[in-house]
Amino acid sequence: MFKVNDNYLKLPGSYLFSTIAKKVSAYQAEHPDQSIIRLGIGDVTQPLAPAIIEALHSAVDEMADAATFKGYAPDLGYEFLRNAIAEHDYHELGCEIAADEIFVSDGAKCDSGNIQEIFSTDNKIAVCDPVYPVYIDTNVMAGRTGTYDPDREVWSDVIYMPCTEANGFVPELPKETPDLIYLCFPNNPTGSAITKAQLQEWVDYANRVGAVIIYDAAYEAYISEEGIPHTIFECEGARTCAIELRSFSKKAGFTGTRLGYTVIPKDLKSGDVTLHSLWARRHGTKYNGAPYIVQRAGEAVYSPEGKAQLEKQIAYYMKNAKVIKEGLAEAGYSVSGGVNAPYIWLKAPGRMTSWEFFDYLLERANVVGTPGSGFGPSGEGYFRLTAFGTYENTVAAIERIKAI
Ligand SMILES: Cc1ncc(COP(=O)(O)O)c(C=O)c1O
Repeated sequence: MFKVNDNYLKLPGSYLFSTIAKKVSAYQAEHPDQSIIRLGIGDVTQPLAPAIIEALHSAVDEMADAATFKGYAPDLGYEFLRNAIAEHDYHELGCEIAADEIFVSDGAKCDSGNIQEIFSTDNKIAVCDPVYPVYIDTNVMAGRTGTYDPDREVWSDVIYMPCTEANGFVPELPKETPDLIYLCFPNNPTGSAITKAQLQEWVDYANRVGAVIIYDAAYEAYISEEGIPHTIFECEGARTCAIELRSFSKKAGFTGTRLGYTVIPKDLKSGDVTLHSLWARRHGTKYNGAPYIVQRAGEAVYSPEGKAQLEKQIAYYMKNAKVIKEGLAEAGYSVSGGVNAPYIWLKAPGRMTSWEFFDYLLERANVVGTPGSGFGPSGEGYFRLTAFGTYENTVAAIERIKAI
């Protein structure tokens, strides 16, 4: 008789965004005349930039001709894309990352969920609290997190690193030593950023204790301030302790087109074993490559036209972030984020819980956001709004919230 993976049964509740979707559908069904503005899920709304569309069209035409048709992509990604990534995302910043240390994939969600597979189940993970839920849930599925305490909403074998107003939503080094440290900056959900000096402390710490930092830089393109690192490889010593995850979703609007990559330096080793070789083995065994046409679209992200068009697209979203942040501050809310990230993190007024504030905003303003408590216990009492809506909807949503 077959048995299921029991670890799946330990996962509490349903995935945060399904719960929100169900609540919003139920409300819309009861109030069919009300127009709901969604600033909850972090999905983009602007179309792909013209340079990307052009590259897609041309790659599709290549697929129609036997002379240029492409079948399976190389395991680790096409060289044209890996070279473009190495040059523009790393060499331009003075970071020493070779094209063959870059693994192209269909996005950072899969990579951030799958990366734990190359580590022993004995490893102890440390996560920020609040956190992008994928890091924890995939470790639960692997059996690495111990037991769940539903009252405190924490796992017994996970090290939580609270990110609070007091520490500027940047975690302090944990008291207990972890093996794997998940860091995401600019941060989802708090919208906070880490300075290069702060990140250097983490890199030094990881090298000192023999831990690996899994650094999720999915929102790197939104950095607007000096002194905020675009990649962990700007820090000295990162090649021996860090893996970096990157995504084209928010940088270039690929949420539906799907493209990302993971960087594993060859200097990152456990004894004689390189993590690079393990991830290459996994990629080769379980993955058949991102589509050729999508990789060509990814290459266009780095063309001069692509770069200029995407700069405008990001400026569009960051204008929304400013509208949200300044509008809410005017209305008396305590707000952070929204400067180097497309997320605004606000404190629910009074003593409202995150879910109470969710209902309050849905019912009183017909605006949907994401309850902070869905990202971890330290998110309780907070709420996330995203800058990924249209400008018109963003302005309307803030006017509605101000009018409550
Ligand atoms: C922190 C973080 N990492 C990864 C992802 C997923 O990126 P992708 O669309 O490339 O799978 C997201 C998406 O919201 C995210 O917020």
